[in-house]
Amino acid sequence: MIKRITAILVGLGILLLAVFLVYAWEASIPEQDPPSPGNFSQAMLEQGEALAGIGNCQSCHTVDPEQPLAGGRAFPTEFGTLYSTNITPDTATGIGTWSREAFHRAMREGISRNGAHLFPAFPYTHYTKVSDEDLDALYAYLMTREPVNAEPPGNDLRFPFNIRLLQAGWKLLFFEEGRYQPEDSRSELWNRGAYLAEGLGHCSACHTPRNDFGAEQTDLAYEGAVINNWYAPALNTSSLAPVAWTEASLYDYLRSGGSTYHGVAVGSMADVVHRGLGRAQDRDIRALASYFSAMAEPGSEEQAAQTATATIQAAQQRSAETLGYGEKVFTYACASCHYNDPENPSTLRPDLSLNTALRADNPMNLIRVTLEGVDNEEGLPGVVMPGFAELSNADISALLHFLRATHTDRPAWNNLEDEIERQRQEVATQTESAQ
Ligand code: HEC
Ligand code: HEC
Ligand code: HEC
Repeated sequence: MIKRITAILVGLGILLLAVFLVYAWEASIPEQDPPSPGNFSQAMLEQGEALAGIGNCQSCHTVDPEQPLAGGRAFPTEFGTLYSTNITPDTATGIGTWSREAFHRAMREGISRNGAHLFPAFPYTHYTKVSDEDLDALYAYLMTREPVNAEPPGNDLRFPFNIRLLQAGWKLLFFEEGRYQPEDSRSELWNRGAYLAEGLGHCSACHTPRNDFGAEQTDLAYEGAVINNWYAPALNTSSLAPVAWTEASLYDYLRSGGSTYHGVAVGSMADVVHRGLGRAQDRDIRALASYFSAMAEPGSEEQAAQTATATIQAAQQRSAETLGYGEKVFTYACASCHYNDPENPSTLRPDLSLNTALRADNPMNLIRVTLEGVDNEEGLPGVVMPGFAELSNADISALLHFLRATHTDRPAWNNLEDEIERQRQEVATQTESAQ
């Protein structure tokens, strides 16, 4: 009897495995000669360049700026380290032999030309929403770049995560293939914004928390998440921005890297704004602003100005009442630049009471900016802030407690000194690996 049951179970197991293998197996698409650049119009190439920016291909596929798109950037995950691939048209190490069909399949289904399943660190889960026309423009753009012969390092993933076939199971659970479907009840501008944000822009890849399998938790879309040691704040109604994001302020932020009633774009968001959206047309930035302002239920521009004034006044009143050690650090290190007339705050000297980083539950962005400053590639063009790594952990902790207590109405942060030390180590290893 036991023998028979075992035999049946083993048989069932083999059958299931066979079904899975048939399901998971994908054909290789034949190689072809690289298409001639003459196949593509100038307009298509310009469109492709802007789209590649919105999709942020450069950021993830470039290590050495002299060799754009040649891959090799490391993606540390809980399952091991993965490296981005070479997507220049080199025929030996890049995608030079890829047909249009192979490219479309990779972008929409996460399958390489040879049939191997790709890992979702490559945001094909979003790119699947992109239209045929836009994918063709991207293909044209990539196929006319300078080919670079460069083999990225091999992946270093733990068993069984290194078995690409198992990604088919991940897809079954967490991936829905399909183009963007417009919502008729919404405006054309909003729909354009949704198409860009949910598709190529993959904004939620950073702003949405992920589950244990690395998939975005769709029920927590845009609730805010930690990514690459930065905190990407909530963009929906959970936003902790002291002044609600309006369409105008979102446009300014996404176009220039800063806006009057908010902080500036630093860390990976600086990359999104300056490298990514830099070539995007104005109307596409307006579309993104339309989509995200609707998500956060903003007030009017007038209300924004009033809230900003009231917020700065409240911070100034609370600061006048405390004279602890944290305030001394602030006066010594920060106050010479970060002061404002409540009626007329300056965009170039962001008022700290208007900054989401001070109100967020997670203090990491504020710690990082205090340690590292804001360099020329970040925030608004032409303005920088020096880093203050020379302050001790105790100094920074006192400063941040002071800022939290006076510049916000949020509860105190815990374990600040530990977190500051952790960020210090993190910044040190990053600087080392960048050299
Ligand atoms: C968030 C980081 C990230 C972004 C943004 C990104 N990629 Fe990738 N991409 C990766 C990683 C990582 C891989 C390797 C995945 C793997 O090995 O399974 C990859 C793989 C690919 C592949 C498969 C190559 C092959 O040889 O199988 C293609 C094609 C590709 N990316 C194109 C693009 C394009 C086009 C864009 C911009 C629209 C883009 N990627 C943006 C991270 C990214
Ligand atoms: C690679 C990760 C990443 C991607 C992709 C990304 N963001 Fe961000 N975003 C961040 C981080 C990190 C911050 C916090 C930066 C800071 O404090 O300056 C941020 C901040 C923001 C803020 C400011 C929020 C606030 O309250 O201060 C807005 C608005 C925003 N992102 C919009 C977008 C939009 C729109 C997209 C898609 C086009 C996008 N983000 C894509 C990482 C990302
Ligand atoms: C020399 C002038 C100067 C000093 C001193 C200074 N800052 Fe700044 N800070 C700036 C400027 C300018 C920006 C905006 C940079 C940009 O847009 O590129 C900025 C931006 C910021 C931001 C916004 C980052 C974001 O994510 O939105 C924070 C937070 C900040 N400063 C905190 C501090 C703290 C804390 C101190 C004291 C330890 C300090 N700053 C000292 C000039 C200064």
